[in-house]
Amino acid sequence: MSVRHFLSLMDLSSDELRALIVRGIELKQMRQRGETYAPFPHKTLAMVFEKSSTRTRVSFEAGMAQFGGHALFLSPRDSQLGRGEPIPDTARVLSSMVDCIMIRTFAHETIEEFARYSRVPVINGLTDRFHPCQLLADMQTWFEQRGDIAGHRVTWIGDGNNMCHSYINAAMLLDFKLSIACPRGYDPDPALLDAAGEHAQIIRDTKAAASGADLVVTDVWASMGQEQEQAGRELAFKNYQVDAEIMKQANPDALFMHCLPAHRGEEVSAEVIDGPQSVVWAEAENRLHAQKALLEKLITA
Ligand code: CP
Ligand code: NVA
Repeated sequence: MSVRHFLSLMDLSSDELRALIVRGIELKQMRQRGETYAPFPHKTLAMVFEKSSTRTRVSFEAGMAQFGGHALFLSPRDSQLGRGEPIPDTARVLSSMVDCIMIRTFAHETIEEFARYSRVPVINGLTDRFHPCQLLADMQTWFEQRGDIAGHRVTWIGDGNNMCHSYINAAMLLDFKLSIACPRGYDPDPALLDAAGEHAQIIRDTKAAASGADLVVTDVWASMGQEQEQAGRELAFKNYQVDAEIMKQANPDALFMHCLPAHRGEEVSAEVIDGPQSVVWAEAENRLHAQKALLEKLITA
């Protein structure tokens, strides 16, 4: 049987995604009840980080520990990856020693190449193109608070980046409508939009995009690797802040999400992210539970 990887949400069927979300909620409840559930003694997850991380690293590492297994952290600075060892060689060697591999890197092609040579599951912990693990947590957070998301309206305000791309995939798989408000020049990949059909559309005006939304989501204006574009992006995105005015356009019980880290006063006002509609702390915690459900599925497969 071929190895199951998780490089984008589209590696799952709609049913599999829904089942993972439900399992994440169960695993959270088990932990809240203080139950020990350690199905993976001696199993090892290798985590390769070519970019910074707080949530992704800690949630995968804590999740493996809670499962009775182990996670090990590798960075280019202190592994041979940083000295030019080819991806296929690294993939072959790591996958001969561990049970699962998580990678956070720049080009999506890097993780695709890695997966081709890996004999164990490879998980995308963020690339420039997608951040599917974050969507598992975001959708778990929605399902916990509001039930199924099918038929609901989600508004993305900001950059057409890796998070936006993963929201487009989620809209297709979970059958919700995504309105994307981004400045010209910062659109998501048109091929992804085409594939999403009526599930995703660009609406330039932020208020029009947020009108009637059940969930409003944003992310940083400059992603990791775009630090030198910060000043230009501040100009381009200055009218794309999620503030109280934007939230007023949404439904009164709309939720606000942000994958974090956030920049108050840039993509979101403090009033919104620290306000009553914000669920960012549950969203961040759910990285742990959602990824435990993912690890369970991939390691058991
Ligand atoms: N949201 C997210 O992926 O956070 P980190 O960059 O801290 O892992
Ligand atoms: N779009 C952001 C997400 C960080 C979790 C980035 O890629 O830096």
